[in-house]
Amino acid sequence: MEHLQCGDKVAMFSIVKHQELAPKVHRLSVQAPVIAEKAKPGQFVILITDDKGERVPFTISGWDREAGTVDFVFIEVGATTRKLATLGPGDQLAHFVGPLGLPAKIDHYGHVVTLLSGYGLAAMVPILRALKEQDNRITSILQAPDQERLFEMETLTELSDELVLAVGTRGEHMTESATMALRQLLGNHRRVPVDRVIAMCSICLMRVASEMTRPLAIKTLVHLTPVMVDGTGMCGACRLSVKGANRFACVHGPEFDGHEVEGWDVLMARRCTYADESILQQGFQCRGCSQW
Ligand SMILES: Cc1cc2nc3c(=O)[nH]c(=O)nc-3n(C[C@H](O)[C@H](O)[C@H](O)COP(=O)(O)OP(=O)(O)OC[C@H]3O[C@@H](n4cnc5c(N)ncnc54)[C@H](O)[C@@H]3O)c2cc1C
Ligand code: FES
Repeated sequence: MEHLQCGDKVAMFSIVKHQELAPKVHRLSVQAPVIAEKAKPGQFVILITDDKGERVPFTISGWDREAGTVDFVFIEVGATTRKLATLGPGDQLAHFVGPLGLPAKIDHYGHVVTLLSGYGLAAMVPILRALKEQDNRITSILQAPDQERLFEMETLTELSDELVLAVGTRGEHMTESATMALRQLLGNHRRVPVDRVIAMCSICLMRVASEMTRPLAIKTLVHLTPVMVDGTGMCGACRLSVKGANRFACVHGPEFDGHEVEGWDVLMARRCTYADESILQQGFQCRGCSQW
């Protein structure tokens, strides 16, 4: 039997397709049949680009079980995502682990409002598709800094009964336009009830949305992205306080009830610690969440 030496390469994952969806936004399809076989909406992978790479999580935005491929969409914000942007068909990833995390909760709820920004425009697609299969009526609020950075529009239009665009304003005002759209829907709640809100957008917007729906007791699920390292509940990097208990986003999430999440300030501060100043110039409303 051959023994592995430290540094030996044992398995590589081929990139089969690279699409640029918008400036600095890319979709990669990776040959990973075992993950494709098991993936469920809302789960994620952790990859390492090469032997000098870091472990970096990405939400699974699609899969093809027959072809054995898994897709994810990423925004260039730092070293790993900039490196990924240079890769193309035939290039290999050193590690690609998943599916990780709990799948999103899917059922027939009635009228579901989704709040999407950044990579959430694509990563939410499997969840929207599953909600549609359960005959939900879906209103999607899409937030982007400009028209150019609205992507996946055809699919989002197909899967949403109504689309509301919060586009074109920067900084804090952008959050305002998305929250204004939500406020309008909530203001109409007696006439057209909102049965559930699901948010995959900036941490700030998820926090604000959770506070807006709390008085109306509308269940609000948020997809949280604290810094992760191992992705298996061992290192503690992704711990959060939820309903008075320590929770690990990688194994108990990443989807949580926004009304039960505590310590949003800590979550935001820790996520921003490693942010690169340059991402502010890309129109991010705050630093670090890859969600504009
Ligand atoms: C469960 C989960 C799902 C995610 N899904 C997506 C996705 O589908 N598409 C996408 O573009 N981004 C996604 N992210 C965020 C993505 O992991 C970071 O943008 C990426 O790690 C940035 O790495 P970098 O080296 O390019 O940038 P860096 O310069 O290292 O960091 C840029 C920002 O990313 C954050 N970050 C860095 N390393 C990690 C890490 N290991 N875990 C979490 N955040 C980190 C930092 O806090 C910093 O704010 C997800 C994060 C989590 C936790
Ligand atoms: S990433 Fe280590 S416990 Fe979640």
